[in-house]
Amino acid sequence: MTFAEIVRADATTSNEEVLAWVTEVAELTRPDEVVWCDGSQAEWNRITGEMVEAGTLIPLNKNLRPGSFLARSHPDDVARVEDRTFICSTDEADAGPTNNWMAPDAMKAELTPLFEGSMRGRTMYVVPFSMGPVGGAITQLGIELTDSPYAVLNMRIMTRMGQAALDGITPGSEWVRTVHSVGAPLAAGESDVAWPCNSTKYITHFPETLEVWSYGSGYGGNALLSKKCFALRIASVMGRNEGWLAEHMLLLKLTNTETGKAYHLSAAFPSACGKTNLAMLQPTIPGWKVETIGDDIAWLRPGTDGRLYAINPEAGFFGVAPGTGESTNPVAVETLWGNTIFTNVALTDDGDVWWEGKTDEVPAHLIDWQGNEWTPESGRVAAHPNSRFTVPIQQTPTLAQEWYEQNGVPIDAILFGGRRATNVPLVARSLSWEHGVFVGATISSEKTAAQEGTVGELRRDPFAMLPFCGYNMADYWGHWLDMGRELGDQAPKIFQVNWFRKGADGRFLWPGFGENSRVIDWIIRSVEGSVEGRETAVGTVPAAGELNLDGIDVPEADLEELFSIDAASWLAEADLTEEFFAQFGDRLPAALTGQLEQLRQRLGAA
Ligand code: GTP
Ligand code: SPV
Ligand code: MN
Repeated sequence: MTFAEIVRADATTSNEEVLAWVTEVAELTRPDEVVWCDGSQAEWNRITGEMVEAGTLIPLNKNLRPGSFLARSHPDDVARVEDRTFICSTDEADAGPTNNWMAPDAMKAELTPLFEGSMRGRTMYVVPFSMGPVGGAITQLGIELTDSPYAVLNMRIMTRMGQAALDGITPGSEWVRTVHSVGAPLAAGESDVAWPCNSTKYITHFPETLEVWSYGSGYGGNALLSKKCFALRIASVMGRNEGWLAEHMLLLKLTNTETGKAYHLSAAFPSACGKTNLAMLQPTIPGWKVETIGDDIAWLRPGTDGRLYAINPEAGFFGVAPGTGESTNPVAVETLWGNTIFTNVALTDDGDVWWEGKTDEVPAHLIDWQGNEWTPESGRVAAHPNSRFTVPIQQTPTLAQEWYEQNGVPIDAILFGGRRATNVPLVARSLSWEHGVFVGATISSEKTAAQEGTVGELRRDPFAMLPFCGYNMADYWGHWLDMGRELGDQAPKIFQVNWFRKGADGRFLWPGFGENSRVIDWIIRSVEGSVEGRETAVGTVPAAGELNLDGIDVPEADLEELFSIDAASWLAEADLTEEFFAQFGDRLPAALTGQLEQLRQRLGAA
């Protein structure tokens, strides 16, 4: 049979554009089989069964963790690979100085020999998916072709995968084409390894043709192409062209339990800086009900009433496991009761999972994330620092019904944050939309295990989008400024937060987690105009007595430090901002240079 015949034999669409594209990719990658995915439970059962039999997925104890599995990756394939991630716009300047760039033709020429026969001996799965409710105002559709059954299972959790999405892809409609290969073809009779991947990796994006080609990695954002590749890098470009925003943001619904009034908030924090935690916030103060809408990605678009509306385009969480425990994130712990894929966590003797921070008590014996014997004396972590869980969002006990809402929710406040041991106060309200864009553009954060590199190193991560913006970051800031002009008075208010400030002794000054509800409470009251705050050089912070501290014991000195603005170090940071901005040349919006000057003046006057 020819590949055209193989592709058409079981095809679940008659859309010639789809059939031609799937055929073309099959002819290039030469899989043994082509499987059209329907997203059904039967399909899930079949694929998990095959993987368990092949030894690539470990079933967990059915009584302790029903329907759940553990996967162990190759030790060199544990996080996104930012230095192997490329934006392939025709013009290099459109990718900008913060992205790796290669011309589309040159990249295709480099990729073709790699993808040539890369799926030999494997099955190519055709995975249609919808980002957002099928038919929704902000929704977009895509297809991932992948030779990784692990990716298929994860995509079924993370997206609305299946026939409805494929049916929505009609001739001439706009959809995103994504191709993924682990880059480990099998010769006839050759047996597979547990986690196939390739030491050569390419995560490439073609924003002008709405394509993603990913090679060599099976992990997370490198392989689940709906997530960072489509929903952020490609979608950010679609959003610029079409007047909307694709952001690395969580989404929350807050209800004032006295008045019944509901608010919606979105927050951008860099990878592994607390989005999942805040999305599942359990308030420690009375008066608020918090419900989860999303934990990683938000798409925002002005509605017909002129307000900014947001959806979570995803259908699951791909969350950081370490640090997720009863005391820090009980909602996540409850969400993970079953139907979860765990990757790179440790296995307990009774067939359950464990990671650092899951329980206070450390098990006496485990199998670590690499499959080795482990005891507390081993002197190494049991779970990889970027180990993750993949779980359906519908299992969240605090899920807001608005997650289903076709047109999204109106946003009242936008938060920007990062991991900052110094300088940045616990919370500060921006002085204007333009100032808020400046705050977002200048976020720095200590690096985490979510990307390859040195943990703890401070780097600029504007809008938490440094690794995810699919076009020139300066143009992106310009787009944000334009959106603010369009929204006018109805624009959400912008706040900066920092849960991670430390004292000279290296301890966190703020208890964080559930106690962050105190900060959210002040933010909403600030939006409502019922608190005034105190203006500082970097924004408006809570005035004395405005932050609800009932029932917690934060020492007076710590509180003072949490809000202290050291003019000298802020001025030094302003110099670094000037250097950072300089790399964008004349594409930098003048408004941001203006904001930098105003900040300096305010600091001088402070
Ligand atoms: P990605 O999925 O990588 O985009 O990350 P995320 O932003 O969703 O990160 P997540 O919420 O999983 O946070 C990861 C880490 O931040 C964990 O180690 C948490 O313990 C820690 N963390 C979250 N909230 C707080 C907080 O309020 N205070 C402190 N000190 N740590 C926090
Ligand atoms: C992140 O790194 O921000 C993540 C995980 O959310 S990944 O999907 O791997 O990008
Ligand atoms: Mn993320």
